[in-house]
Amino acid sequence: MTSEATPDADQLAATQSSATIDEAAADRNESPEAIPPEVVAEDDAPSALTDPATVINESAESAILRGVDAADAVREAEAVALDATRRTGAEVDILTELQRDAITSAFIKLSDQFLGAQGFTEHGFRHANLVGRIAYNVLHHLGAEQDLCDLAAIGGYLHDVGNVVSRMNHGLSSAWIAYDALRRLEVDPYRIGLVLSAVGNHEEQYGSSIGPVGAAVILADKADVHRSRVRKDADTSIDIHDRVNDAVTHSFLRVDAQAATITLELELDTERSTVIEYFEIFLDRMIMCRRAARTLGCEFRITANGIPLG
Ligand SMILES: [Fe+2]
Ligand SMILES: [Fe+2]
Repeated sequence: MTSEATPDADQLAATQSSATIDEAAADRNESPEAIPPEVVAEDDAPSALTDPATVINESAESAILRGVDAADAVREAEAVALDATRRTGAEVDILTELQRDAITSAFIKLSDQFLGAQGFTEHGFRHANLVGRIAYNVLHHLGAEQDLCDLAAIGGYLHDVGNVVSRMNHGLSSAWIAYDALRRLEVDPYRIGLVLSAVGNHEEQYGSSIGPVGAAVILADKADVHRSRVRKDADTSIDIHDRVNDAVTHSFLRVDAQAATITLELELDTERSTVIEYFEIFLDRMIMCRRAARTLGCEFRITANGIPLG
């Protein structure tokens, strides 16, 4: 056998690769002439757009990289956390660790920026802290052991961090980011597992209330409907989510262990939105809250402007 009859690996790869291209072109019934020519820049073409380099270099992503400062997100996380502690009272050591963690803080900050760019309400440090602390308080008021209360706080704090990846299935991406953060903090695997389950199940599209930690995170997350979540530039006449959030001047999740009830108390400005609009967008969430409350041995109730809604 001559050397020409045994092509070396590179020659073989080149042969196979060109054969693949030819076959693909044949499948598309294209002659070589049908392959589109290279795109040629048309400098003299009229355009109503700003030039691409300006658009790209003035984008939010460019701004993020130019102003990047890992300590900046941590400072912001700690400042908001202090405020949340004052309002909710819940203090959890591991939350302090997470607030000092540059990766977690940067991802929460970016999650909020990315969701803002897509027109969603606030999902930053304010929401993370409140959900963490409300979840803590739900279990604390129901007499849960300290360990479970702490895990609910951690789950609540991390539940939306996956929005840094994508809004779609962010409960799942949040869980993997939470896994990495908690591994770095050397939290034991069983505690990590409970947090992952709570975080991964908080969205009504695919989540289930599996246990107390997850149930507390669900209730805390869905209770955070408030005008302070509406972005400054939002047009509430167009977006129903913005309108309903804007109409809520006060929301409070009241836990009554003796009566075995968890009540979401809302104060609604009915000039801005109506109770019907509230249920129009939040019905699935309220059903999820009812199931979560039952996981905790409680009934879920809602009041709007002091009137029980069910
Ligand atoms: Fe979420
Ligand atoms: Fe959330």
